[in-house]
Amino acid sequence: MARVIAIASQKGGVGKTTTAVNLAGYIALAGHRCLLVDLDPQANATSGLGIESPPRSHLPALLDGTLDWNEVSEETAIPGLRCLPSTVNLEVPVATAEARGGGAQRLRQQWLDAPPSQLDVVILDCPPSLGPLTDLALHVADSVLVPVQCEYFAMEGLAQVLELVRRAESSLERKIELEGLVLTLFSPEVDLCHEVAEEVRRYFPEDTLDTPVLRDPALAEAASHGQPICLYQPRSAGAWSYLNLTKEVLEHEWTETGTRARCPDPAH
Ligand SMILES: Nc1ncnc2c1ncn2[C@@H]1O[C@H](COP(=O)(O)OP(=O)(O)OP(=O)(O)O)[C@@H](O)[C@H]1O
Ligand SMILES: [Mg+2]
Repeated sequence: MARVIAIASQKGGVGKTTTAVNLAGYIALAGHRCLLVDLDPQANATSGLGIESPPRSHLPALLDGTLDWNEVSEETAIPGLRCLPSTVNLEVPVATAEARGGGAQRLRQQWLDAPPSQLDVVILDCPPSLGPLTDLALHVADSVLVPVQCEYFAMEGLAQVLELVRRAESSLERKIELEGLVLTLFSPEVDLCHEVAEEVRRYFPEDTLDTPVLRDPALAEAASHGQPICLYQPRSAGAWSYLNLTKEVLEHEWTETGTRARCPDPAH
């Protein structure tokens, strides 16, 4: 039974895709079967894994149950990590209540039914809006991870994301966990970053993850080479950040699902 984590924020450029690609990379390196689903028409997660966008989106067929995720997901350079690539014009097919209702449920069920030999974790990379694609992601997800960039107005818009989560919960009649808020683009030498981090932790003491993701140009370079940081520069500060973030997320998952025994330490 896979665990589905949506990475969402309506703010652009806060590190959603970088977090999705690198978290997925380290989750797979830790020995879990992971699927990264690119739900953004910009297809940055797709290209960030070195995969070409297909001419047409597979999402409508996945939502109406005529295709299986396994048939249309692609292998990546990391064993155990597959990607469901995105294309432009992705928005249209999911802009209906049907897609978010029955379609989302069908898609979720495919993942829940997948045996652990095929799938442990699904990561959903959302576009920078609270439109139909993010709403769909929330309807499919068990939990949501929200990147918060360490800059002015960092917390602006957080309330809206959390409100969308609450609305999805009440229409689904099940809980969507807050996986956590992750501080991104953190520069230790910049006072403002520390101030923002403190403020976020003051408002969300339980939900802010301990690991801030350091600002590191290697992360942007890795994306432009179509590689997760664990392959591109595994000894960089950015790699270290995502390795530690992955440990936190997996520890959270272990306590929730009791699968600790299956999970090797990502550091080894
Ligand atoms: N920790 C980091 N250090 C340096 N550069 C980063 C870091 N995180 C992200 N970036 C760069 O910042 C830009 C925005 O990051 P990213 O694409 O992950 O954000 P996003 O929230 O997915 O953006 P969008 O809202 O457009 O989907 C990218 O060029 C990325 O390579
Ligand atoms: Mg993105």
